[in-house]
Amino acid sequence: MAAIRVASTSLTLLASTSSSSSCYYHSCPSIFTKFRFGPIWAVSLTFPPLSSRRAKRMAHSIARATLGLTQPNKIDPPKVSFAAKEIDLGEWKGDILAVGVTEKDLAKDENSKFKNVVLQKLDSKLGGLLSEASSEEDFTGKAGQSTFLRLPGLGSKRVGLIGLGSAASATVTYRNLGEAVAAAAKSTQASNVAITLASSEGIPAELKPSTASAIASGAVLGTFDDNRFKSESKQPSLKSVEILGLGTGPEIEKKLKYAQDVCSGIIFGKELVNAPANVLTPGALASEAQKIASEYSDVFSAKILDVEQCKELKMGSYLGVAAASANPPHFIHLCYKPPSGEVKTKLALVGKGLTFDSGGYNIKTGPGCSIELMKFDMGGSAAVLGAAKALGQIKPAGVEVHFIVAACENMISGTGMRPGDIVTASNGKTIEVNNTDAEGRLTLADALVYACNQGVEKIVDLATLTGACVVALGPSIGGVFTPSDDLAKEVLGASEVSGEKLWRMPLEESYWDSMKSGVADMVNTGGRQGGAITAALFLKQFVDEKVQWMHIDIAGPVWNDKKKNATGFGISTLVEWVLKNSS
Ligand code: BES
Ligand code: MN
Ligand code: ZN
Repeated sequence: MAAIRVASTSLTLLASTSSSSSCYYHSCPSIFTKFRFGPIWAVSLTFPPLSSRRAKRMAHSIARATLGLTQPNKIDPPKVSFAAKEIDLGEWKGDILAVGVTEKDLAKDENSKFKNVVLQKLDSKLGGLLSEASSEEDFTGKAGQSTFLRLPGLGSKRVGLIGLGSAASATVTYRNLGEAVAAAAKSTQASNVAITLASSEGIPAELKPSTASAIASGAVLGTFDDNRFKSESKQPSLKSVEILGLGTGPEIEKKLKYAQDVCSGIIFGKELVNAPANVLTPGALASEAQKIASEYSDVFSAKILDVEQCKELKMGSYLGVAAASANPPHFIHLCYKPPSGEVKTKLALVGKGLTFDSGGYNIKTGPGCSIELMKFDMGGSAAVLGAAKALGQIKPAGVEVHFIVAACENMISGTGMRPGDIVTASNGKTIEVNNTDAEGRLTLADALVYACNQGVEKIVDLATLTGACVVALGPSIGGVFTPSDDLAKEVLGASEVSGEKLWRMPLEESYWDSMKSGVADMVNTGGRQGGAITAALFLKQFVDEKVQWMHIDIAGPVWNDKKKNATGFGISTLVEWVLKNSS
């Protein structure tokens, strides 16, 4: 039985970004390296006077030196090893033995003994303590309920029952079980746990591996706490998880490895979103993307375009958004190619990468505008790069995947875009910017044109695009927009496996009327009504008709308000979708 370790993810990821400017700028010169040393300003006659140049250079170097002097702590990711085993529960030795139970499993006979065989056996070993505790505590097996017994002197120090409830999705049910065990391990400083189900016999054989992997994912993600920005943090205690009663062998081992690869992508994505905008600048995001490419260099190549290169590609829409910021934009393009064999399908994943969205001149003001949360406006790019990290480890065959992010900040300054300005995108279309806060679609316009130029058959973009989508679907459901029923079927199918909630919305063409401009091809903002739909219709203007395309608005589910943390939303669905397209 081989224990599989969580691949070392990058909890360390940002530890070096502030000081990594040197390595990053070395490999990919940024505009301000050129600004300082290049020949441009020596020959330019239109440059501002020296004093103002110096002031500008100052602004740049302040931005570069990480505003606020924050250095993320280097913390190792939870290294939880997994094993699938078949042993008698009474024989197991360790800190916590947890049994997932449904309401039905808890049924008792006339002598108040469990009818369920697994529980009955365990209970008799414990002298009836389990049935006693479960009735005293009115434990009914509903989701989120748990009861634990402390058993000094026995093989397992604690034995507990955890309610599975009856969530709509099996993935979510079993992931919640893993999370509940991780929480119990955290509060009791447990380092090794075993998890089993009272009714594992009832699960069809072909579903056992995915059940085990859902439990494993919950345990890893529940163990993870993003403490990089806290001055004191402790390492998680949980080191090993044994999954009992769901079988053993290569198939389940493969699923457990897959779960760990996806989890490392999710953790990476969460860290990107949690990192504040003074640390995670567009340059830092690009450097993280480049690190993925070098870590999995057998399958990835990376290309990072600076302002000048984006100008050459005529990305006026994207550069318009980036124009106010002291932190220069970075256009990120990673390409995944399988380690061997021919490529049958070419895909692109495009993510909105606004490391901060102030709104620009249409600044976000007033209560509820959430300007202080707008570091999460790169959640689409985090999903895309998180998926890249997972796929770098899984290495699917037969599929080529392009990961594309037009990273920048939406700020305010004298060099910034004004409301009413007209920008020209790389497909030649002109846009009257009637609202600088509708910036995500401007960056995505050029990113989508670029994606189409890679010769891909299908594109999925993810973006924290509109508050309107949050109004429509609430905080935990992503909005799906696509003209393609086939692509809708693929991605919605993938989201059922991953347990992430998506809902297809209409791409109502008649609403395009509100996007007409008197002077340009279009405006970037329609009215308040149907705001998520008009945003999607805007994106559609930049996608080749031959390409199957889907837009997913993740403005709601990117962030968990209660936990004040990123969710990693989208990553597991994207990985699942790419695998569906692999051979
Ligand atoms: N990043 C925001 C969307 C957003 C808002 C995400 C709230 C999460 C929570 C986006 O750039 C934006 O500002 N959209 C505007 C569009 C409007 C000006 C048409 C919005 O939704 O208000
Ligand atoms: Mn905005
Ligand atoms: Zn935005």
